[in-house]
Amino acid sequence: MKQDMILILDLGSEENPRLAREIRALGVYSEIYPHDITEEELKALPNVRGIILNGGPNCVVDGVEIDAGDHVYNGSVPVLLAGVKGKHPWPAEEEERKAALSRFVFETCEAKANWNMENFIADQVELIRRQVGDQKVLLALSGGVDSSVVAALLIKAIGKQLTCVHVNHGLLRKGEPEQVVEVFRNQMDANLVYVDAVDRFLDKLAGVADPEQKRKIIGTEFIRVFEEEARKLSGIRYLAQGTIYPDIIESGTKTVKAVKSHHNVGGLPEDLDFALVEPLKMLFKDEVRACGAALGLPDNMVYRQPFPGPGLGVRCLGAITRDRLEALRESDAILREEFAAAGLDREVWQYFTVVPDFKSVGVRDGARTFDWPVILRAVNTVDAMTATVVGIPYDLLGRITERITTEVAGVNRVLYDLTPKPTGTIEWE
Ligand code: XMP
Repeated sequence: MKQDMILILDLGSEENPRLAREIRALGVYSEIYPHDITEEELKALPNVRGIILNGGPNCVVDGVEIDAGDHVYNGSVPVLLAGVKGKHPWPAEEEERKAALSRFVFETCEAKANWNMENFIADQVELIRRQVGDQKVLLALSGGVDSSVVAALLIKAIGKQLTCVHVNHGLLRKGEPEQVVEVFRNQMDANLVYVDAVDRFLDKLAGVADPEQKRKIIGTEFIRVFEEEARKLSGIRYLAQGTIYPDIIESGTKTVKAVKSHHNVGGLPEDLDFALVEPLKMLFKDEVRACGAALGLPDNMVYRQPFPGPGLGVRCLGAITRDRLEALRESDAILREEFAAAGLDREVWQYFTVVPDFKSVGVRDGARTFDWPVILRAVNTVDAMTATVVGIPYDLLGRITERITTEVAGVNRVLYDLTPKPTGTIEWE
């Protein structure tokens, strides 16, 4: 293994992910483990140069004071007991705190600043090969950032031992299924099973207007299709997943309560009993993107804006129809094109169109029309819990409106949603 590591043992502080990021920002790899890590688990971790025990107020969780085992304190690497209120607090000043952290990492632990993507990829390639040997691995490749980066990493590590399954559920953005095929099958020479399940999904969704019902149908059907494909392939032992560090942190640790449950794996039947390969599970989102770029994935895949799992399904309001879905896909493509041309694509967190399920009267070439409106949405946010509306220049709004009303069939109006979150949500359903 190429990288030195500083371990953070979690004594109940919510600050631990930030601390891990700060250490990585110093160029030294860092991971968070539960406070009750065993001697064997600790010994199995490679290149540990130091340990930071970082706790919340008095290290009390649910009324019980917690601490690490003696083997942690008596081991061969330096231990820093930090952040524990009333015991060994961090210096109050931000700069001093960072300096103290840096001194511990580089002077006390003598860690080398060798955390970079090249080394991370080399280590993961070795770990993946060690884990799966000559066995086969399956991956549901949506084309999103996380699954795409996992695919690229596994292709580098095990090539044709990986089978990627891309399910086109008909709710992807314009050009996305084609790009998945182009990048992974044509450029990276991967085993890629492309499943055209468009009719199947749209038939199941026909007439269903309730947003939660729509989400449920899309989720359930997705697992069914994937399961059917998995059964067609024989001898698969491993399932790769694009789990990333925030997914794990949000699921909670022993000492920090769960924010939301994490169930990427949910739903596969028990007889499809795969062992998991999750090579990105220790990366933060920006690190995942850097990893994808280092593996040669195209920029528009690596820097893609967030896109909901149910895809365009939650933006084609009410019961989905093919004509409105097409209007949605085309208007979204125009919006993305214009944002890219104006240089807004890297500045705005999320931007998309919505097509409601009502029509309004308009006029075209002197004749009355009765067509759909398209709603534009563009927001910035840090954590998606709250969001602000982006002020799009008026001439750009005008150009987008002009293009959508002339190029997209069945649309006669364009509206801009001025609502922040709250009171709106980012999506409309
Ligand atoms: P809301 O609409 O709740 O969205 O303000 C917050 C963020 O979550 C995304 N989102 C979803 N992502 N499945 C997902 O994977 C979903 O069902 C879903 N609904 C919303 C949304 O795009 C935004 O980034």
